[in-house]
Amino acid sequence: MSEAGNTVVLGVSAGIAVYKSCELLRLFTESGHDVRVVPTRDALRFVGEPTWAALSGNPVATEVWESVHEVPHVRIGQSADLVVVAPATADVLARAAHGMANDLLTNTLLTARCPVVFAPAMHTEMWEHPATRANVATLRERGAVVIEPASGRLTGADTGPGRLPDPAEIYEVCRRVLAGRGGDLAGRHVVVSAGGTREAIDPVRFIGNRSSGLQGYALARTAVARGAEVTLVSANVALPDPAGAKMVRVESATQLREAVLAAAEHADAVVMAAAVADFRPVRQSGTKIKKSAAEPDPIHLTKNPDILAELGETRRAGGGTYPRVIVGFAAETDDVLANGRAKLERKGCDLLVVNQVGENLAFGTPDNAAVVLTAEGESVEIPRGPKEDLADVVWNLVVRRLP
Ligand code: CTP
Repeated sequence: MSEAGNTVVLGVSAGIAVYKSCELLRLFTESGHDVRVVPTRDALRFVGEPTWAALSGNPVATEVWESVHEVPHVRIGQSADLVVVAPATADVLARAAHGMANDLLTNTLLTARCPVVFAPAMHTEMWEHPATRANVATLRERGAVVIEPASGRLTGADTGPGRLPDPAEIYEVCRRVLAGRGGDLAGRHVVVSAGGTREAIDPVRFIGNRSSGLQGYALARTAVARGAEVTLVSANVALPDPAGAKMVRVESATQLREAVLAAAEHADAVVMAAAVADFRPVRQSGTKIKKSAAEPDPIHLTKNPDILAELGETRRAGGGTYPRVIVGFAAETDDVLANGRAKLERKGCDLLVVNQVGENLAFGTPDNAAVVLTAEGESVEIPRGPKEDLADVVWNLVVRRLP
């Protein structure tokens, strides 16, 4: 399926975030898709029918009783290449999970045979209520992509998970679902670490690295689009949150270790794309180190735990729940393949993505080239291209290893 010229149904339900869906609609139409907006009756209290009709260039209806001769309750769903419901309220998730058909949107969801994406938005209490959890689980089991809401300021004074993700990020998920990569990680939980750790020297200084987080974020974004529940452990990244990923922000290697190990307990796969500092200062000064000292004190370093090796070791020892697939990254400047193969064995992972780094290679650029080494001795070459393409190859190899 091509990435433009599709018939998209944009379902909108009655949440305050409806105004953001106008922007989502524009992203679709400007990319050449034909969009039919199907609001719920109450969604029109927030944004009216003329707005949707003008922006989409198509008629807008909420009930099955309008233009009955065209049998819209069947036709709209049947002819869609993608249905995206954004925002999806607790009510619409419940009605969809139970197969109800009491307005045009729910009829459309029942007749659609194409991929369906829900972008929920609601107050945290509603999102976390067992009823909503069960409805989301049901929808995911049936193959729908239900993206995690973002965390942040909600309508009132409260904050927490429940915000509609950025329209550009929702669009990105839809674009990838339309590109035909949806679904094969449905029902799976994956953990991705991204960015670079910072090891504090004093309250204002740290030892860090050049990782931008682009590759880890591409892995998270592509996994969401393929239906996975994604936990993204993010170390010092200045990029927008990928829609649908559960964000855990950390700074140091110690914090990253805690977050990854906690999430890995319930994960099918862990992908360690973060650049983790191998060493940290033995002592951190509680106050800013002043230059007035006659001679600066040397900074003594101590080794950080190797998280990737620890995951592999825990799995080998058979202790507790552990991820089925463990993926490491390696940045090498020379002897790339030999070093990579030795590292894969040393760290006990299933797949190792080996990048050649150096001037203008990998760091902070949207493109990447790599070789993926497998525990069975295969090597899969990934030619230079977008980091999202590399991410998809990694997920293809992960999917192959999942039962
Ligand atoms: N990694 C980790 N914990 C560390 C260091 C690295 O989990 N303390 C992970 C990285 O996330 C990456 C992989 O290990 O997936 C490779 O890291 P790299 O720094 O290249 O490997 P090292 O063991 O440090 O090997 P060397 O310094 O010899 O290159």
